Amino acid sequence: MSERVVPVTANSLCKMKSQGQKFSCLTSYDAAFTQVIDHAGVDVILVGDSLGMVIQGHATTVPVTMDDMLYHTRAVARTCQRPLLMVDMPYMAYASVEQALVNATRLMQAGAQIIKLEGDGVQLEIVAELTRRGIPVCAHLGLQPQVVHKLGGYRVQGRGDAAAQTMLDDALALVQAGADILLLECVPAALAARITQAVDIPVIGIGAGGDCDGQVLVLYDILAITPGKRPKFSKDFMQDASSIADAIKAYVDDVASGAFPAPEHCFE
Ligand code: KIV
Repeated sequence: MSERVVPVTANSLCKMKSQGQKFSCLTSYDAAFTQVIDHAGVDVILVGDSLGMVIQGHATTVPVTMDDMLYHTRAVARTCQRPLLMVDMPYMAYASVEQALVNATRLMQAGAQIIKLEGDGVQLEIVAELTRRGIPVCAHLGLQPQVVHKLGGYRVQGRGDAAAQTMLDDALALVQAGADILLLECVPAALAARITQAVDIPVIGIGAGGDCDGQVLVLYDILAITPGKRPKFSKDFMQDASSIADAIKAYVDDVASGAFPAPEHCFE
């Protein structure tokens, strides 16, 4: 008889946070990889708009559309059993509260269990409305790749006292608005640790140090097949692995034990 699968939820991640247990998140864009990732014990799968770069070959995530996200979400949802399935809202799919509600609904109907959107205090109204309607939200702070043209590059965010205080205030306001999870990208490790301590919801980090409650990486980065240069915060897990499944399992184990991220994957 096959074992009953207990699906991961935002609540179970909260429990892991309270018990000091680190959880892993990895991007996936199709059914086959999702099955391998699920079996390796990854807790959260993110259908990230990074698919615009690693699958479609664009230079940024800006060209990714709702149709792209829906296509990949449906594929991933078909084999995702245990992990919490998080899906990115793509560029300008949430430019107003009304548009956010329509597009988040479409993603949830395609199989998402929580949607992720980039933004700081600007998104408070949207986060409040989506969560009031029962749509779980992960708010993505720090480096927001969808506004790379405004930022002028992929840079660490939150450096300096004023910027750090603003990010902490935004994080608290997003929690107050109803966010279920926070994600911090390219944030100094000390600031990410402060934010993680200050909120009682799970915080996932990418280039945000080892004190976040969970870690996320892009699948193709850990398999070392990303076109172009792999970011500093990622790690080639294929190097010491004999298969893709082993590499993903090594990532899960290293996150759980705290071996990943190491100091060379973090920012000051
Ligand atoms: O799109 C994505 O893969 C992401 C991660 C880099 C966090 O947002």
